[in-house]
Amino acid sequence: MIRTILTYPNPELKKKSSPVTIITEATRELARDMVETMYNAPGIGLAAPQIGVHQRIIVIDVSGRDEQPDLIIAINPVIIHSEGETYEEEGCLSVPKYAANVRRHTHVVVKGLDLEGNEQTWRADELLAIAFQHEIDHLDGILFVDHLSPLKRDLFQRKYKRMTESASEAP
Ligand code: NI
Repeated sequence: MIRTILTYPNPELKKKSSPVTIITEATRELARDMVETMYNAPGIGLAAPQIGVHQRIIVIDVSGRDEQPDLIIAINPVIIHSEGETYEEEGCLSVPKYAANVRRHTHVVVKGLDLEGNEQTWRADELLAIAFQHEIDHLDGILFVDHLSPLKRDLFQRKYKRMTESASEAP
């Protein structure tokens, strides 16, 4: 089922998510919904709090339009190693129509569980590494715009407020 994606400045996006303690059929159904919602958007990643569920679950697929799908479902993901620095443009399904450059690591190693409860280790570079960092941030109530400098964040807030206000006035 496709769920509604919450958008900035919805306060639900600022809440910290709790670890999944037991993987049940409800967990698998939630993950399926997240995958469907991500592909439908379309997006390359989605975290459970973006659909208002405060559990530590993320889904990612950074494969291109003409490539084989490469779906990752990570439960309780934790970055155990990171290195390198990059400064790429990011967007977010919860911050539509806005993009900005964000400082991230180029390489991360992430540990977590799959839907069967098995421990997994993901080694990610570049776009996939950025996606992991971006989605794990969501689990801690952090949006990519929170990484902007105070000045840029202030500009974003004012611009975004105007943009969303004029959008709601449109016929
Ligand atoms: Ni996002």
